[in-house]
Amino acid sequence: MARFWVCVAGAGFFLAFLVLHSRFCRSPVLRNFTFAVSWRAEEILYRLDVDWPKHPEYFTGATFCAAVDSLNGLVYVAQRGDNIPKILVFTEDGYFLRAWNYTVDSPHGIFAASTQYEQSVWITDVGSDFMILWLHGENGTGPAKFNIPHSVTLDSAGRVWVADRGNKRIQVFDKDTGEWLGAWNNCFTEEGPSAVRFTPDGKYLIVAQLNLSRLSVVAAPPVGSIGECSVISTIQLADQVLPHLLEVDRKTGAVYVAEIGAKQVQKYVPLNSYVTPFGS
Ligand SMILES: *[C@@H]1O[C@H](CO)[C@@H](O)[C@H](O)[C@H]1NC(C)=O
Ligand SMILES: *[C@@H]1O[C@H](CO)[C@@H](O)[C@H](O)[C@H]1NC(C)=O
Ligand SMILES: *[C@@H]1O[C@H](CO)[C@@H](O)[C@H](O)[C@H]1NC(C)=O
Repeated sequence: MARFWVCVAGAGFFLAFLVLHSRFCRSPVLRNFTFAVSWRAEEILYRLDVDWPKHPEYFTGATFCAAVDSLNGLVYVAQRGDNIPKILVFTEDGYFLRAWNYTVDSPHGIFAASTQYEQSVWITDVGSDFMILWLHGENGTGPAKFNIPHSVTLDSAGRVWVADRGNKRIQVFDKDTGEWLGAWNNCFTEEGPSAVRFTPDGKYLIVAQLNLSRLSVVAAPPVGSIGECSVISTIQLADQVLPHLLEVDRKTGAVYVAEIGAKQVQKYVPLNSYVTPFGS
């Protein structure tokens, strides 16, 4: 009996390997960069959705960022390069909808702000209209100072979380008073964070480190000062994938990672209750 189950499990793994292998090998980009994805996870919280998008050949430049319009089930991807469309629009199940390149030169960040009445997308463009939208303090290393604030996000407790990349830390402020609520210095000693986003339940932050090609899931305290940083899981991507910015779908909890090195956006879906969205 035991041997039977071992055989079944063995056959299952082999089948899964074949399926994954055939999926990963459908394009050179995926073959080079994602087959080596490995989970160095204490707890495995996400799986790569190898079916997203259906046609990765639409990625023709360096994919800098992604935004999710949960309301309309859309994913926007911004890429850089010559003579290519700068913005690609996909459905959340991976179908390509449209592309455009007018009004955009060198996109850096993107954010979807749709309401039930109107769809809108905000793009920071370092080519033509570079703007710093929000900056609390001046350049420097002390509390409430920044060195390349690269990604900003807000939680439901009214705190602003800033990936202070050059200072290798995340700093947190009160949204209304601007009060400094603390900094996490100890989790990112090798390299500063390039992206911060919350899971929909607000319990965890997903943090990207560009040159390490690593994503971390970090526990976020519910209110007030932030205490010590604690990484509960890491996703080690293949060398040179270079995750730049990421976005979380507020409805499904899926994480879209814009990988400048691999020149693609990949989708990770949550596996268990740690990161399941509220309201579902
Ligand atoms: C815009 O994209 C089209 C392909 O969709 C390309 O032919 C054209 O050269 C692009 N224009 C610029 C300015 O990048
Ligand atoms: C900001 O501060 C850091 C560290 O003090 C320094 O290395 C960097 O050159 C400064 N950047 C600017 C734009 O002044
Ligand atoms: C990543 O590496 C590149 C090339 O070595 C370097 O220019 C860049 O500053 C690094 N970025 C970070 C966030 O360390």
